[in-house]
Amino acid sequence: MSKSANTINTVYVIIPTYNEVENIRKIISALFDVNKKLVAWNINILVVDDNSPDGTADLVRTMQTEFGKDTLKLVSGNKAGLGKAYLHGFNEVLHTYKSEAIVMMDADFSHNPKSIPILLNAIENGADYVIGSRYVQGGSIPGNWPLMRVVNSRVANFVAHALSGIDKGILDTTGGFKAIRTTTLKKIDLNSINASGYVFQVSLLHAFASRSANIAEVPISFTDRERGTSKMKSRDIIEFIYRVYKLNPQSRIATLIRFGIVGACGSLINLMILTTLVRFTHISILFADLVAIEVSIITNFYMNHFYTFKLREGQFRNYDRANKVFVKLLKFNAGAIGGALISFTAFYVFHQLLHVNYVVADLYAILLATGWNYWVSTKIVWKIVDART
Ligand code: GDD
Ligand code: MN
Repeated sequence: MSKSANTINTVYVIIPTYNEVENIRKIISALFDVNKKLVAWNINILVVDDNSPDGTADLVRTMQTEFGKDTLKLVSGNKAGLGKAYLHGFNEVLHTYKSEAIVMMDADFSHNPKSIPILLNAIENGADYVIGSRYVQGGSIPGNWPLMRVVNSRVANFVAHALSGIDKGILDTTGGFKAIRTTTLKKIDLNSINASGYVFQVSLLHAFASRSANIAEVPISFTDRERGTSKMKSRDIIEFIYRVYKLNPQSRIATLIRFGIVGACGSLINLMILTTLVRFTHISILFADLVAIEVSIITNFYMNHFYTFKLREGQFRNYDRANKVFVKLLKFNAGAIGGALISFTAFYVFHQLLHVNYVVADLYAILLATGWNYWVSTKIVWKIVDART
């Protein structure tokens, strides 16, 4: 079927490949088959291959003589991860070709080319970013997925929501099958996306969401790859957690994580001082403990000031700047003494009055005191003044 030139939009389907020689011919043919049925769009393909040792790129070059270099394009790079491959592809399309939309998809038939018209339809209806979603009504993951993969995917999604702050209404944050509007993509600073691997999917979504782009989800059935193997490695998981954390370091959970790290360091410092004093001086153990407590309160304060809450000063206009560091230290110190009292009282109540096992009682006490210290830190010492008052 011929397409009338004045109503046609161009869509680039970007396919990153690493050792996909078994899939690439079939997926390219399938895409051009879909193209025949598309009325308002014309598909061009860009394969971003990272010098796959299995000769994926050579096969694409052979196919270029079949389909033409204008419709089937190839760029090669060194293997630097899925995210870097997409960035390479985006830059190529944005700077070299005219296009109205970009489709991102895997080479391995996990993403059915037949769903592309549905993705593009959503673009036509005004969406800037369309997720082929496994988790909206009508979408699905493979029925035979081992429990481990189901859990992995769910946990990744949960972590992405909790840390990045992406709207919980968006159900599939990690999916890799999507269509994006080129004009909106152009407004995004691609250099600010540092993701190398799979977390790129979440970073890109976050970039669109923070520009209030119109985000849509359409159901897809995700199928297992037919040939070859997944390229996901454990370093991808570590990068995933680190990058989604970095997307929104002001989130409550990110702050809590830093606060927890500082607390753990503080406990170590406390222990070190106590043991050192007991070993090398003749002061009483009780006095040594008091010194250890006070020193760790002060070191905790500085770690929180320069680490946990550091960004507050730069990022929040209504951050409390009236109090100088020394005043903050006094407040924190008073709060920590309050925390110690709470801890002691709680221990007394749980253990002496309620006859809870002493270790369990101490855990409750630590939990309560930590909660109190966190409250004092976020609401008093490093407070954000309520914008409404
Ligand atoms: N150029 C290049 N460089 N391509 C790569 C690289 C790389 O370093 N790593 C992976 N790819 C290509 C693969 O060849 C494949 O075409 C596609 O990227 C996806 O890789 P898979 O290894 O098949 O990913 P997956 O099946 O584990 O993960 C899929 O599902 C995830 C969500 O559950 C992908 O769609 C992910 O993007 C998605 O987050
Ligand atoms: Mn795959």
